[in-house]
Amino acid sequence: MLHPAEPMQRLSLLVDLASLLPREVDLDTLLGRACDRLAEAMNAERATLWLVDAERGDLVTRLAHLPEVKELRQPMGKGVAGEVAASGRVARVDDTTLDARFDPSADEATGYHTRSLLAAPMTDGPGQPVRGVVQVLNHRDGHFDDEDERYLSALARELSHVLSLTTLRAGDSERPGLVMRGPYNRIVGRSAAMEQVYERIHLSAQTDASVLLRGETGTGKTLLARAIHVNSARQTGPFVTVDCTTLPSQLVEAELFGHERGAFTGADRRVPGRVELARGGTLFLDEVGELPPRSQGKLLRLLQDKRFERVGGRETLEVDVRIICATHRDLEALVATGEFREDLYYRMRVVEIEVPPLRTRGPEEIERLLRHFGDLYAERYQRPQPHFSEAALERMRSHAWPGNVRELEHWVEGAVVMAPDGEVHESKLPQPKLPAELSGLTLPLGLELEEARRRYVQAVVDDCGGRRAVAAKRLGISRNTVTRLLTKVSGEDG
Ligand SMILES: Nc1ncnc2c1ncn2[C@@H]1O[C@H](COP(=O)(O)OP(=O)(O)OP(=O)(O)O)[C@@H](O)[C@H]1O
Ligand SMILES: [Mg+2]
Repeated sequence: MLHPAEPMQRLSLLVDLASLLPREVDLDTLLGRACDRLAEAMNAERATLWLVDAERGDLVTRLAHLPEVKELRQPMGKGVAGEVAASGRVARVDDTTLDARFDPSADEATGYHTRSLLAAPMTDGPGQPVRGVVQVLNHRDGHFDDEDERYLSALARELSHVLSLTTLRAGDSERPGLVMRGPYNRIVGRSAAMEQVYERIHLSAQTDASVLLRGETGTGKTLLARAIHVNSARQTGPFVTVDCTTLPSQLVEAELFGHERGAFTGADRRVPGRVELARGGTLFLDEVGELPPRSQGKLLRLLQDKRFERVGGRETLEVDVRIICATHRDLEALVATGEFREDLYYRMRVVEIEVPPLRTRGPEEIERLLRHFGDLYAERYQRPQPHFSEAALERMRSHAWPGNVRELEHWVEGAVVMAPDGEVHESKLPQPKLPAELSGLTLPLGLELEEARRRYVQAVVDDCGGRRAVAAKRLGISRNTVTRLLTKVSGEDG
């Protein structure tokens, strides 16, 4: 029998699931919340999810409400969940003591006592692969009925759809299900180097500490900054980004801190800054190494006291924000030349997370990313999922990827477009960028030679994804010379 509040709860649960998805919450959080709401809507004591682990070919559950039990596993075909996963059909047990299908091993592991249960397959439809099983345990007044069966089946289909939109991969037809890849559902990577990064992301997300993300261009710093936010207590607050490279230096300060009416020519009204927009959430300062000196001082004050003034304003404002910074620049060198404030440098890097370059994550990681972006762009361009020839794979695995994950993503995108039949051969791969195609650099003619040289070297280093050794080769000088040319203030002769 339906409880009067249930129909509304049931409807809003579906809406909830759809709105949770695009927010990049981690998979466990998503599933944990879905379970809480589901149990409530179905008048059950508890809801749990089993996912088909395509790599191992069994079912795995992660029990969000029981942190002491990390995961349980169940072979396909065994127990009620195993049977539902294997058959693709919903199953209902009104009394576990009388039903031979019920396997008590999960209860034994958790200390929970299951009396009645209803389990439905998470699948896109009849005949489609089963991604997992959703079940509700112990109806509060007796047992589940036909209406409950229909609702849970519909919801399980919805959940299946939600899961298909995450980067969890649907397995091939022989091994249906999902491959779980790391704790954040849009971040691909299982290498030891990335596991360390996840650990640090996870720990810092539990606090409000300032985080500095470092790493070469395209390694995923921006993505990881978001991951910290969506996994923190501030996840329902705003995530506001300021890219310090795209703003002319005179405007950075007004953009960040806002300005009062009449603060400068053209300021005809009061405008709140990004800092204020991020109230209660996270402010992400991308490429913080580019911040002009004046703004550096104001940022330091914000980090220390959470206080600031608008441009042209006298009033001191207080704001509750969490600050995450990122840079691919060599901050130590900038501190050495006086371009970056040393006190700010120390204040920013309470937690420093070094995102490793792709080439150090190992060939398997490269393949994982190839498959990930292959699926993504195949879907976007309505092409078959790409199949890489062995020669193509070999070239991908051994490529140095100076542009890291971004470069790989663009390669795969191009390969998918150029392979309407899904077959990617070596000849179809986009060619690595040649030095002759280097993007240009405009230098003002008034520069001293020393400074012009520094900027040129910096531009080449940037173009090599921050890799000085590669830049040195291209420039025909030693790596040490590159470092020396970059850190030199000017004046003396090199
Ligand atoms: N581990 C990953 N899994 C999936 N996608 C990734 C991963 N790392 C990076 N990407 C993707 O690669 C691209 C580049 O990542 P991102 O912009 O986060 O790099 P970045 O380090 O901030 O680069 P930059 O220094 O140029 O700002 C993005 O499209 C991002 O979604
Ligand atoms: Mg970035």
